[in-house]
Amino acid sequence: EKGGYDSFMLKEIYEQPQAVRDTMGARIDQEKKRIVLPELKMSDTELAAYDRIYIVACGTSMHAGLVGKDVIEKWTRVPVEVAVASEFRYRDPIYTDNTLMIVISQSGETADTLAALREAKKSNVKVLAITNVVGSSVAREADEVLFTWAGPEVAVASTKAYTSQVVTLYLFALYLAEVKGTLPADEIANVVEHLQAIPGKIASMLEESEASRMRDFAASIKEVGSVFFIGRSLDYAVSLEGSLKLKEISYIHSEAYPAGELKHGTLALIEDNVPVIALATQPDIFEKMVSNIVEVKARGGRILGFATEGDTELAKAVDEVIYMPSTLPMLTPILTVIPLQLLAYYASVARGLDVDKPRNLAKSVTVE
Ligand code: M6R
Repeated sequence: EKGGYDSFMLKEIYEQPQAVRDTMGARIDQEKKRIVLPELKMSDTELAAYDRIYIVACGTSMHAGLVGKDVIEKWTRVPVEVAVASEFRYRDPIYTDNTLMIVISQSGETADTLAALREAKKSNVKVLAITNVVGSSVAREADEVLFTWAGPEVAVASTKAYTSQVVTLYLFALYLAEVKGTLPADEIANVVEHLQAIPGKIASMLEESEASRMRDFAASIKEVGSVFFIGRSLDYAVSLEGSLKLKEISYIHSEAYPAGELKHGTLALIEDNVPVIALATQPDIFEKMVSNIVEVKARGGRILGFATEGDTELAKAVDEVIYMPSTLPMLTPILTVIPLQLLAYYASVARGLDVDKPRNLAKSVTVE
């Protein structure tokens, strides 16, 4: 059932090109290069009226939400707040008449996410769910559902669910941009074309030549006390996910920081040979990122940088660089996360741990 892989996690990592393709599937109008979401029951007029969005989720699903926030805000100019479900459910959220809530849950059974959904519905707020499980509680109780078509995810560490959630958020953001008229049709078509190329680019990140580099880096950190992930904007969102994945299955302590925050405290922890994974894939803040990296290097950090194909600058500032295939900056997170998943996987294997069933954790957190 692991299809020749030694763990479900590795199998699911390698299923990502297909999972992403299936999730986009019939939602792309091939001819017009626009998004269609026939499963939405609400009218376009109703959808266009939303002027505020909450995205509520836990763990990796919340990290997908952070990417969603940036793309929705950029493409539709609707303010989005991302909240951890266990916090949100006990808050007194400010809903307006035009607030939409998006809950994201792979399993559709996470207790806190479900509770947040129920709270919102009690206040008559429309809830749109992004979930991977047809017939799950979240799918049944939400007003609207967009399914991720990732197929069953068995490993505790979420991988293909994350990339499928991120893709679903891209599709939703593009659709919302069209109904709101915030992106011209040719720009939407351009993003759609880039989206269609993503599965092939994910596949290239999974090739042995790329995977072996993450395997080697994982072997080199297997005894360290701490790993730091740094990035800005979308790279920060992906850093959080890379860090969670590493902690979760390798039990190596790690932290993710917005790179600009380092000098407000964390830089004190950087000394000789502390591994730092620096994501620098976003052109608008690339130079700022490089200055942060130089500061880390000056304190002795050992830096694995992530840049986009074609860049020659980052290599001068770091010890080693992994290059992402080029795509639109907004779409890069879905590529950047792939080597980070592999890093966590190989670190876990290198430490002789049970990749699929990390200690203390359950696949679906159905109790508070
Ligand atoms: O099923 P859900 O998406 O609601 O699960 C949320 C989190 O429990 C989950 O993403 C968790 O953080 C993963 N184990 C991370 O890999």
